Amino acid sequence: MMPTANLSDPMEPLESLRSTAGARIEAVASIAELDALEAELVGRNSPIGAARRGLGTIEDADERRDQGKAINDLATEVSAAIDARRATLAAIEEREALAADRVDVTLPGRPVRRGTSHLVQSTIDEIVDIFVSLGYTVADGPEAETGFYNFTALNIPETHPSRHESDTLYLDYGEGTGDEEVLLRTHTSPMQARYMETHEPPVYVVVPGKVFRADEIDATHLPVFHQIEGLAVDGSITFADLKGTLAHFAKEFFGRDTEVKFIPHYFPFTEPSAEMHAYTKGQWIELLGCGMVNPAVFEQVGYDPDVYTGFAFGMGAERMAMVRHGITDLRALADPDLRILEQYR
Ligand code: PHE
Repeated sequence: MMPTANLSDPMEPLESLRSTAGARIEAVASIAELDALEAELVGRNSPIGAARRGLGTIEDADERRDQGKAINDLATEVSAAIDARRATLAAIEEREALAADRVDVTLPGRPVRRGTSHLVQSTIDEIVDIFVSLGYTVADGPEAETGFYNFTALNIPETHPSRHESDTLYLDYGEGTGDEEVLLRTHTSPMQARYMETHEPPVYVVVPGKVFRADEIDATHLPVFHQIEGLAVDGSITFADLKGTLAHFAKEFFGRDTEVKFIPHYFPFTEPSAEMHAYTKGQWIELLGCGMVNPAVFEQVGYDPDVYTGFAFGMGAERMAMVRHGITDLRALADPDLRILEQYR
């Protein structure tokens, strides 16, 4: 049978759809656009949908079957092109999403600005470590002390100049006088007495901490600085042990070839007393005070001076850092300027 050629041929729009669909599908750039185009090309309101609805008006069964098949073939063809394009677009979109999410594992990390210990603290830590490696333990004690522990227990008489207001910072705390008076400790030595009162020999202890003196600030004085106290008490400790221990310390801290010498000195709480000097960076320099624990101190804390002997020493942490690093102005260590401090990291 000849197809009837009339102006309202329902297959007309399908012909133009067939000729343009391929290019339009290829031109679509996203899945969302493709979904819209799919509705336009093969949806209920598309020419294909309309043509399907028109099938019912065709009376001739053969013609109806042929047209129906033609419509379905076209719909299948267009849908296949849409599906292929959808797969391509999905692949492109996924690739783009992955590219956008990409983590560049080769990108160098952003450096974290880490804090470090202050030079005074790292100096204290290093000194304490040297004694810990010799078997010493570490203790700390109060910065606000009584006249008793700061002076009396250490055999420092009531008349000693260091007890004067011009040297010691007294705290206006309570009514105490003399032994009861509260002050900022002028040295870490009161911990000798406190430690021995609460521990039985043998004692091998170092005590780092802040100390305070009524000094004007200048290149060699600060009203607050740090000391490391050392105390060794045992059955048969001699001055040779003191010398060997402190010479070992000097070599560990300043370098293997550091020489030391001991010069007689006076401290009320040691007898005999000495200053240890070290030869470093081409000159002799005073490092610390030391001596054999005065039997009078043993008696104060209840140790039998006929049974025990011991030595004690006290050194300034800032002084150790200055000698080692060739720092000539103590105030550099109290300056918060990182450009100064970072030189000693
Ligand atoms: N306490 C003394 C000072 O500050 C140092 C010292 C400690 C001396 C222990 C002898 C024994 O100068």
